[in-house]
Amino acid sequence: MLVSASEMLKKAKEGHYAVGQFNINNLEWTKAVLQTAQECNSPVILGVSAGAGKYMTGYKTVAAMVKAMDESLGITVPVALHLDHGTYDDCYKCIEAGFTSIMFDGSHLPFEENVEKTKELVAKAHELGMSIEAEVGSIGGEEDGVIGMGECADPAECKSVAELGIDFLAAGIGNIHGVYPANWAGLQFDVLSNISDAVGAMPLVLHGGTGIPDEQITRAISLGVSKINVNTECQLVFAAATREYIEAGKDQQGKGFDPRKLLAPGVQAIKDKVKEKMILFGSVDKA
Ligand code: 13P
Repeated sequence: MLVSASEMLKKAKEGHYAVGQFNINNLEWTKAVLQTAQECNSPVILGVSAGAGKYMTGYKTVAAMVKAMDESLGITVPVALHLDHGTYDDCYKCIEAGFTSIMFDGSHLPFEENVEKTKELVAKAHELGMSIEAEVGSIGGEEDGVIGMGECADPAECKSVAELGIDFLAAGIGNIHGVYPANWAGLQFDVLSNISDAVGAMPLVLHGGTGIPDEQITRAISLGVSKINVNTECQLVFAAATREYIEAGKDQQGKGFDPRKLLAPGVQAIKDKVKEKMILFGSVDKA
């Protein structure tokens, strides 16, 4: 069931658990995440980066595929189709394409411009029943060409942006996209705690979910994080399972080269990873 992410994240914040955003890359990814959410009776957010949207031939293709698949698989758990780190223009493209949620990432803009554009997009998104995420501070590392320096967010700026009527807020707290370097200092819980106090009931978003130790995830949830984004980790397990299949020569046995067989171990690896995260985030049976 395609819905905005507003209600599911309000419930998550009140219930002290988090909903996973799993980024999708193609049909197999989408099917794996949807089927796992249904099996776990968990709400879920499908994240689409600009790069993944382009790869799938555009946001309209993505929206059409997700809507049709949600229907044909008989998915009854709440599913939000969400633009990840959107530019101003991409937000409008996703509004037009029929997404149910957008993220406007104005974190690299001067703060006043971030506020102004976020405000405009809040009005547009809410007029259409969509949810909207904004970002303050920045997420370190690189995701599909979006590069961040990883500055921690200022709680006062978080409060100002939360008051614009957004539905959930991404605030940099030392998190990084991609694999964490060995000398990573960990999440900055003092910053998270101050942001949480400043924004009150606003659900907070933790980007860069790949590789954060379980105990830090649990602590972040206890301090008000209600949405956790995972992308790289699913890519890594997909690649490893596919490599294993080919290195074992299975693509050369019988009809093992059939893409439906070749990609099956990778798809299963995504499902297992998504399930593991849903259990860790506490969203199982919260649909
Ligand atoms: P990872 O690729 O580090 O899991 O980050 C995902 C993310 O934050 C998407 O916005």
